[in-house]
Amino acid sequence: MTPELEDLFAFLRFPSISTDSRHAGDVRDCAEWLVAKLSAMGLSATLHETARHPVVVAKNEHRADRRTVLIYGHYDVQPVDPLHLWTTPPFEPEIRDGKIWARGATDNKGQMLAHVLGVEKTLKESADLPVNLTFLFEGEEEIGSPNLAPFLESHRDLLKCDVIAISDTGMVAPGVPTLGYGLRGIACCEVILRGPARDLHSGLFGGAVANPATAIARLVASLHDEYGKVMIEGFYDDVRPLEAWEREMWAKVPGVSDADYLKVTGSGSLFGEEGYSSAERTWARPTAEVNGIGGGYQGEGSKTVLPAEAMAKFSFRLVPDQDPADILEKVKAHFEKHCPPGVSLLYLGGHDGKPYHCDPNGTFGLAAQRALRNAFDAEPVLIREGGSIPIVQAFRDILGADTLLLGLALADAQIHSPDENFPVENFEAGIRLNQALLQELAK
Ligand code: BES
Ligand code: ZN
Repeated sequence: MTPELEDLFAFLRFPSISTDSRHAGDVRDCAEWLVAKLSAMGLSATLHETARHPVVVAKNEHRADRRTVLIYGHYDVQPVDPLHLWTTPPFEPEIRDGKIWARGATDNKGQMLAHVLGVEKTLKESADLPVNLTFLFEGEEEIGSPNLAPFLESHRDLLKCDVIAISDTGMVAPGVPTLGYGLRGIACCEVILRGPARDLHSGLFGGAVANPATAIARLVASLHDEYGKVMIEGFYDDVRPLEAWEREMWAKVPGVSDADYLKVTGSGSLFGEEGYSSAERTWARPTAEVNGIGGGYQGEGSKTVLPAEAMAKFSFRLVPDQDPADILEKVKAHFEKHCPPGVSLLYLGGHDGKPYHCDPNGTFGLAAQRALRNAFDAEPVLIREGGSIPIVQAFRDILGADTLLLGLALADAQIHSPDENFPVENFEAGIRLNQALLQELAK
């Protein structure tokens, strides 16, 4: 195994699951490993405490006559359940069929470490970097980055930069370099519906009191029309329409046809808003999703019970110029209006992040395109992203810098799912990409 892969394997072995407080120690160990790695490379690396998981910042020597580039990544990962669907254990990385298999392999440890190792390589080759570099790595991206925006506010000088680069997004097909110029925003919330004081015998009481599980189903159903359009009042008010040039451009992007979406999702058919392709639906249209729904008996066999409560968790994906706080107000009003009779509604707000959009053909965007072309020896495609990285718009609001999204995540990488994987080829390309990017951004 190459020393680069050995580093990645060591990084992947930390079960740095940010949402699970039982793993807080592992998250910290992972941050400390990073500090040690970055220090050994000759960067000045610091672990900064936050209210929850640490932030790691590392820099070379900054000089007034060079551009300053900030590279962001996250070392936390999503939970691994259902564990039994993994071919090999999620925190015991393995190479099969040219791919690295582990939780975080693509999202985001593999992509992030490629930048670190690109810098290490350049430092070994030429003892210096062409730019002032700041690495900013957080351990809370997968829980909505609750402590990072405050960290930016209180460390503006430390993090001052001309441009930001991130590899934590998609690559449309193997070997097709992909520059993202937009991200969907996100707003999360949860609803609990309560009925009787305790679970009841459904024969003795069914028919006499409302069933919260029925009520949650009705409430969830009220979110869409039968074609998948979101029915919340005012939901589409601030949606910026797709531009003709991007629809034209996206129609030619490989790997994102409706047939590709069918294949990669394993779904029997596609479904979504009338009049848009799958790529348009996911990259440029907002959605309302139920992420979890529950209530009542879930065990083996039947149990004739009328549950005391039922719940659902929601996330809304947003596009420019929707505002998460405004959307959550509209969502809450919708739930209150449509809550079926006989149950009481408890609404819990969750984390959010604004959508992001920038010009892919500005000075830095063009430099990124040249770097992608060099690293992959192919013409880059320009896309927006369906996923969210909540801190990106905050980078612009607080640090005043735009972000280049140089994605290496393939559609079948199974991020957030069992058997997450990252091709060794993409890991190596990511290292080349970092070297090319710093060269091009220095110009
Ligand atoms: N790396 C993803 C986001 C992503 C993946 C964007 C692929 C575009 C293409 C990131 O780690 C992620 O999963 N973000 C969460 C944010 C949420 C938890 C606040 C998301 O999008 O669900
Ligand atoms: Zn993720």
